[in-house]
Amino acid sequence: MRTCLIAGNWKMHLTPAEGGALANTLRQRIGMRTDIEIVLCPPFVALPAVADALRGSEMKLGAQNVFWADSGAYTGQISPPMLVAVGCEYVILGHSETRGRFGTPDPTFTDAILRYFGENEATLNRKIRAVLPHGLKPILCVGETLEERQAGQTEKVIESQLQGALEGLVADELYELVIAYEPVWAIGTGQVCDAPEANRICGWIRQWLAHHFEPELGEHVRILYGGSVKASNAHELLHQPEIDGALVGGASLNAEEFEQITYCARTH
Ligand code: PGA
Repeated sequence: MRTCLIAGNWKMHLTPAEGGALANTLRQRIGMRTDIEIVLCPPFVALPAVADALRGSEMKLGAQNVFWADSGAYTGQISPPMLVAVGCEYVILGHSETRGRFGTPDPTFTDAILRYFGENEATLNRKIRAVLPHGLKPILCVGETLEERQAGQTEKVIESQLQGALEGLVADELYELVIAYEPVWAIGTGQVCDAPEANRICGWIRQWLAHHFEPELGEHVRILYGGSVKASNAHELLHQPEIDGALVGGASLNAEEFEQITYCARTH
């Protein structure tokens, strides 16, 4: 049985004080729920304040990114053990806002000159391998752009994202993996993917996992939908059989709205 997961991706919003206050409000309203899993993913600097606010509740903490080395000369980066030390259990990886946004990597680059900020399947693969031994659960984002969808390439794009990110990993390592299907055209646009279509793609991802690894993994891994999820559309999305939760951006910054979304979650 897959427990529904509702994760709030705060993106680059809220100071530590503001984040702590929002986490505190949410904790009072939904902090003791055990029928679903609720995760807050604030910016790095707000992680300790949110961790303090959530202490003693059932809500969990996640980060929005990570680097793959444990320590070293990587100015500006944050490592998996650092996230664990502040109480993170989850980490979002491969969000479309990080993929390729900070420089497009040349595919011929060797390791030595790899541009760390041009997120691609190779960097994601390193990150997934780096976080799993620390017990951090990756929320791996995949999804197509509007152009790719219109060209009928949705499944092909997602397949290559999954293949590259999970390259060389075996089923036993992936039982704590969470995948978020986030069509790029639906993120922050208010243009939500139709629930039956989001369900179809999540089901397709599950089948891919089952075929590529093993059937039990496909049954076990939680697959979320993300992209313009709001209280008004959450019920239909979260009652689709293949959708195991939501990665919520903008609506997770409003306590009322986020709380309402958690009430739409399917419980078993
Ligand atoms: P949105 O963002 O809910 O604001 O569309 C979702 C996300 O980027 O994870």
